[in-house]
Amino acid sequence: MHNQLMSELGRVERNIEQREFIGAEGVWECKGEIVARLRAAGCVFAEDEAALLVEATNDADVLGALVAQRVSGVPLEYLLGWAEFRGVRVGVRAGVFVPRQRTAFLVDIAIESAREAALTLVDLCCGTGALGLTATSELRANGKDVALSAADIDPVAVACARDNLAGIGDVHEGDLFAALPPHLRGHIDLLLANTPYVPTAHLAALPPEARDHEPPHALDGGIDGLAIFRRVIDGAVDWLAPGGRVLVEMSADQGELAADVITRAGMRARIERSAEYYATVVVGTR
Ligand SMILES: C[S@@+](CC[C@H](N)C(=O)[O-])C[C@H]1O[C@@H](n2cnc3c(N)ncnc32)[C@H](O)[C@@H]1O
Repeated sequence: MHNQLMSELGRVERNIEQREFIGAEGVWECKGEIVARLRAAGCVFAEDEAALLVEATNDADVLGALVAQRVSGVPLEYLLGWAEFRGVRVGVRAGVFVPRQRTAFLVDIAIESAREAALTLVDLCCGTGALGLTATSELRANGKDVALSAADIDPVAVACARDNLAGIGDVHEGDLFAALPPHLRGHIDLLLANTPYVPTAHLAALPPEARDHEPPHALDGGIDGLAIFRRVIDGAVDWLAPGGRVLVEMSADQGELAADVITRAGMRARIERSAEYYATVVVGTR
């Protein structure tokens, strides 16, 4: 995945060398100036971001506006309209949680654990639908027959996911399982849920891009960060098929407590950790 992104950036870089960006009213003389502006604003990957912003438009005025917004702290993905996730450009719109690279680990586990030839897969708390999209596409490419449903409580996220999952799966709006079609109850083989898991008291310490631009309901997991997780586990007991799995991402220090919640609900629990992705996923099996 990393190599794919690097090769994509290399292609964009070559495009830039071949194009002249002399900005309107002399605002942007060259890519170097954009890089300098982004770097001064604290963008760690200023070169890469400049390349992607330049690639996003042929209009110097629009480019100037994009750079100004990025300098003011707007997440890059909102400006590009997409986020790279498992090698796919997933559509993103303002106000919808930006898929994080670490969540690719949850999809890895989902794919590894999918032994059935035909699966009912649900992406709960779907945001853009990135998890359902990539898991379904990759499983289908492996010859699996996958029926995908996704759901989120936020109408903006639902609209975004409907765009991303058009022709791939259906998307429902509502509170956790209440959003899902009743016929799925007791029949879900794989339940992916990247629930909000930041403890409320920690929200203020998040990086400004998340704190100021992503909606609190996409981040806030209540007092210990596991409030929505507990509700997902409560529902999973009814909604999973026998042998079905629920996979939830969380922070490293929440894993043991989350596994205990799963065990108390009568399911088998295991904790998966990845040093590469810096990610923790708990898996409950009914
Ligand atoms: C951390 S984001 C994850 C989004 C996406 N799965 C991803 O990983 O990119 C959490 C999502 O949960 C949604 N959400 C929060 N509370 C919810 C609820 N009670 N029912 C359904 N979705 C909810 C938010 O709107 C947000 O899109």
